[in-house]
Amino acid sequence: MKAIAILALKEAALIEARAAGTAEALEQVRIKYLGRKGLLPDIMKGLKDADVSERPAMGRYANELKQELAALLEKRRAALEKAAAVSAPDSFDATLPGRWRAFGARHPISRIIEDAIRIFDTLGFTVADGPDIETEYYNFDALNTPADHPSRDTQDTFWLESGQLLRTQTSPVQIRVMESRPPPVRIIAPGRCYRRDTTDATHSANFHQIEGLYVGERVSMADLKGDITCFAQRLMGPGVKVRFRPHFFPFTEPSVEYDFSCHVCGGKGCRVCKQSGWIEISGAGMVNPKVFTKVGYDPETVTGYAFGMGVERIAMIRYGIHDIRLLYDNDKRFLEQLAQ
Ligand code: DAH
Repeated sequence: MKAIAILALKEAALIEARAAGTAEALEQVRIKYLGRKGLLPDIMKGLKDADVSERPAMGRYANELKQELAALLEKRRAALEKAAAVSAPDSFDATLPGRWRAFGARHPISRIIEDAIRIFDTLGFTVADGPDIETEYYNFDALNTPADHPSRDTQDTFWLESGQLLRTQTSPVQIRVMESRPPPVRIIAPGRCYRRDTTDATHSANFHQIEGLYVGERVSMADLKGDITCFAQRLMGPGVKVRFRPHFFPFTEPSVEYDFSCHVCGGKGCRVCKQSGWIEISGAGMVNPKVFTKVGYDPETVTGYAFGMGVERIAMIRYGIHDIRLLYDNDKRFLEQLAQ
C-alpha cells in the first residue's frame, strides 16, 4: 500500500461524514473507518509490511485521518443535536412573536372605481362596458370629432395595423350604450384608456377614466353640477369643492372642465396640486345634439349630460400621491402604506 492511498481514503471519509444527516449515519461512518474492525486499524496492521520509504508518510496520514475524522464526526453530531432540539415539539417557545404574513390589498385605482360604482349606484346609475380596442367611428366620428381634430394625431392615438385603435377615452361607451337602447339612460363606464403620452409625474400612456352619461327629459347643466359635486363630497368628504370652467369638447355643447379642490392641502397649495389648490379631474358638458342624431335619439325630446373622470387624478388627491408613476410601479412598500 502507498501513502497516497491513505490520503484518498481520508478525503472519502470526510466526504461521507459531511453527508451523514443523522446520528446513526455518523455512527456508521465512524465504525467503517475508526471501528475495531474498521479500515484504519487495518491500515495500521499493514504498516509493518509496507515499503520502508513509504512508512513514515503512511503513519502520518493515518494519524491525520483518525484525528480529522474524529473531530468532524464530533462537530457534525453536535450540530445535528442542536437542530433536533430546535424542531422537537417540546421546544415550542410560546413567548416568540407570531409570524408576520403579508396581506394583499385593493389597488388605489380599483378602490376608487369600486367606490364610484357604489356612489353612482345610489344616484340611479348602472355600469356599462366597452372594448379597449375601438374603431375610429366610436372613438371619434360618432363623438362628433372631425377628421382634422388634433386628438386624432398619431402622436396622441395608438393606431393598430388593422385600422382600429386603442381607445383614447371612455366616451365611445356612451355611443355603444345609446345605440343599444332607447332613452332614458343613466350609466357610468369605468375603464382603461391609452394615449401616446410620454410618461412623467402626471401623465401615463395607460390610464383610467370613468365615463358618465345621463339622458332623459329635461336633464340640465344643474343636474350635472349637482351630481358631480355630490359624488366628489361622498368620495372625498364634505369639505371638497368643485369648480367648473368653460371649455370645448366636440361631443358636448356647452362644455366644461372641472376641478376638485386639493384634498391633501385643503386648497392652500402643495406639491400634489402644484401649489394651485385644485386638481383638474376631466371634462363634461351637455350632450351635443349631433351626437344624439348619430345614435338615433331625437334631440328635440331628450337632453343629457356627460362627463369623464380621470381616476389617477382623483387617486392623487385622495391619497396624497405626487407622482402618477407610483401607481404602476407595484412597489409593495408604497401599496402597503395605502392599504386599508
Ligand atoms: N373624453 C374626454 C377626455 O378624455 C373627457 C370628457 C369630456 C368626457 C366631456 C365627457 C365629456 O363625457 O362630456 O378628455
